[in-house]
Amino acid sequence: MGTTHLLGLLLGTEEDWSGAFEALLRRADLDISDGGDRHRFASERITIEPFNLRAQPRYALVIDRLAHWYFVPREWLKKIALMDDVYLLNNPFTFQSMEKHAAYCAMMRLGLKVPDTWLIPHKEPPENERFPYTAARYNRPFDLEEIAATIGYPLYMKPFDGGAWVGVSRIDRSETLRQRYNESGQRLMHLQAEVENFDVFVRTLSIGAETMVMHFEPGRPLHDRYAVDHDFLSPAAGTEVVTIGRTVNAFFRWEFNSCETLVRGDDVHPIDYANACPDISLISLHYYFPWAISALLRWSVFCAATARRMRVDLDLRRWFEIGDSERSYGEKLAEYRRLSDDYFSVDAYAEFCERHLGHVHEVVVDYVRSPEFDRLLVDTVTGAFPPHEHERFVPHYRGLLAAWADDQR
Ligand SMILES: Nc1ncnc2c1ncn2[C@@H]1O[C@H](COP(=O)(O)OP(=O)(O)O)[C@@H](O)[C@H]1O
Ligand SMILES: [Mg+2]
Repeated sequence: MGTTHLLGLLLGTEEDWSGAFEALLRRADLDISDGGDRHRFASERITIEPFNLRAQPRYALVIDRLAHWYFVPREWLKKIALMDDVYLLNNPFTFQSMEKHAAYCAMMRLGLKVPDTWLIPHKEPPENERFPYTAARYNRPFDLEEIAATIGYPLYMKPFDGGAWVGVSRIDRSETLRQRYNESGQRLMHLQAEVENFDVFVRTLSIGAETMVMHFEPGRPLHDRYAVDHDFLSPAAGTEVVTIGRTVNAFFRWEFNSCETLVRGDDVHPIDYANACPDISLISLHYYFPWAISALLRWSVFCAATARRMRVDLDLRRWFEIGDSERSYGEKLAEYRRLSDDYFSVDAYAEFCERHLGHVHEVVVDYVRSPEFDRLLVDTVTGAFPPHEHERFVPHYRGLLAAWADDQR
């Protein structure tokens, strides 16, 4: 007897991480006795279809990779969160309403070192018959170059809700500013001060209570952006980037998110941290891919087995009380870390993993060394690169994944 928890995967075009997740769940063959109950787990790819708002979903938890652009499943996610207490990675409510802009505002209020940022009205206004009248009455003329001069060059122009580098440009003089603004059309843009001459670009990926800190090289091609690098930050900066990533996540209830920070000297500047459908492809994560998939498995299993409640509501006041206080930056960070570790049940999670998921690591290493994983790797790499590059990239990825497996011994 006991419960079989069904983990739903809401997928778009991704086959790599989902295939690996399914293989790991099968191989781990979990059978957990906790609190007098027996827990088993299965996963299923969710299909899109009409739904009755009163229908009972079969899922205990859903990992969503689709709802940010496809609104049928997005509305289904809201229904199953509000009506059925299904656990979601991620919270679609904040994901929809809190875009990059809101995340900047929130983290500025918490006192993080977000570069100065301005929101600029659209180049091409919304198509609405009321606009001409409204604009004539209320829109103030503004001098774009004056704003840029206030911020100082070089600066970045980027969409207020951006993602995937679309529409991002670095601007070092007024002619380019004017040109980029004209090109921005109907996209609402920010201007943001550049963090110049930073020492290191750090990208953290958080999955529930786990955070991986990675050295990122944004200028390199996609397959080469994550460097396999271990001691590239001082311990203090390492703790700080983890705290910042977790703070964002606990604040917005995002449990699967990446956070980009630029470290210059002792200062850590967060620049992009509203990525609640983060890139976890084998092609970009390579060495870190096994960690990401196994963290997804561990966190999903923990949430389902312990009946962790999905939190739709935010308790912003608790954060703002700290942010608005007279505490020093370091004291605020320590408080945020306490709140976020508490939100993510960091200690209970560690204990659960140790007690029930101790064998998973070995399962992952065996899987990564298996012909089954090699087929997934080859399919993924040959699907991602043109034929003439297969000969180069298949061994390249095999080497990185073998290095990961060797490092685990
Ligand atoms: N304020 C900044 N200072 C320095 N570099 C920046 C800044 N903002 C953006 N960039 C650069 O531009 C890239 C894309 O900007 P980002 O805000 O991350 O947008 P996206 O959401 O599209 O990833 C970053 O990865 C970084 O290399
Ligand atoms: Mg980014």
